[in-house]
Amino acid sequence: MKTKCLFPVAGYGTRFLPATKAMPKEMLPILNKPLIQYGVEEAAAAGLTDICFVTGRTKRAIEDHFDISFELEASIGGTKKEEFLSGIRSLINSCTFSYTRQLQMLGLGHAILTGKKIIGEEVFGVVLADDLCFGQTGDGVMTQMMQVYEKFQCSVVAVEEVADSEVSKFGIVSGEEIEDGIIRLDTMIEKPPLAEAPSRLGIIGRYVLTPDIFDILEYLEPGRNGEIQITDALMQQASEGRVLGYRFKGQRFDCGSVEGFVKATNYCFASS
Ligand code: UTP
Repeated sequence: MKTKCLFPVAGYGTRFLPATKAMPKEMLPILNKPLIQYGVEEAAAAGLTDICFVTGRTKRAIEDHFDISFELEASIGGTKKEEFLSGIRSLINSCTFSYTRQLQMLGLGHAILTGKKIIGEEVFGVVLADDLCFGQTGDGVMTQMMQVYEKFQCSVVAVEEVADSEVSKFGIVSGEEIEDGIIRLDTMIEKPPLAEAPSRLGIIGRYVLTPDIFDILEYLEPGRNGEIQITDALMQQASEGRVLGYRFKGQRFDCGSVEGFVKATNYCFASS
């Protein structure tokens, strides 16, 4: 059974200061729903209902969001307003939630390694909730990725074409397209200058990882920006042909940036 999904939410969210000074960026709402709830809904729809957060200081609002708020519920119970809580209530009832703290923000790879104890020896999903994704066909991006995993039984990263000006913000990958939209990766470089990028395919915030990734992360030296980079660990799996890039069917918004956040808000408002 594959039921676990890791949510690294310990980052500082500096691109969204001052909003993120005392509030987790994952609690920023797109319309009336926080980013983290969209991410958990996507994981749960893929059957990943054991939700594991790697949190940090100033992130307690996330724990409270996935808990009962007795006072609030008592005060609006029996009124029309109750229906505003029905979505989050049913999510809470269908998932379990575990938390562990990353003590120092040493990078995404380090955050994932911090989740080792709660993940154990299982294949697991990773969702970066500030990348808000909507599937095109009714299947969410994590559901699509689990289908790819079931077929090929190796790590899967979601990728999309990025603009030249954006290349240096992504992990950039290349490899051989073995099926439509599925690429067996042989090169992955974290945030390369444009001239050194092997393609324009960037990794976005959705991963399915096999648990041997933890053994690799444990001995990994810091990479780009002095951080433990998940891309470097994946490169070791890729050198054995065990990582696929998946061009997901759908749309992604970088809600960690003000521009992406506004675009996502407009998109959701237009389709609400
Ligand atoms: P980002 O690169 O978006 O960093 O991290 P950030 O700190 O959240 O945001 P900015 O760039 O300063 O605005 C990608 C994801 O990895 C998590 C973040 O919470 C985010 O979901 N992360 C990153 C950690 O959990 N720990 C880290 O040490 C670094």
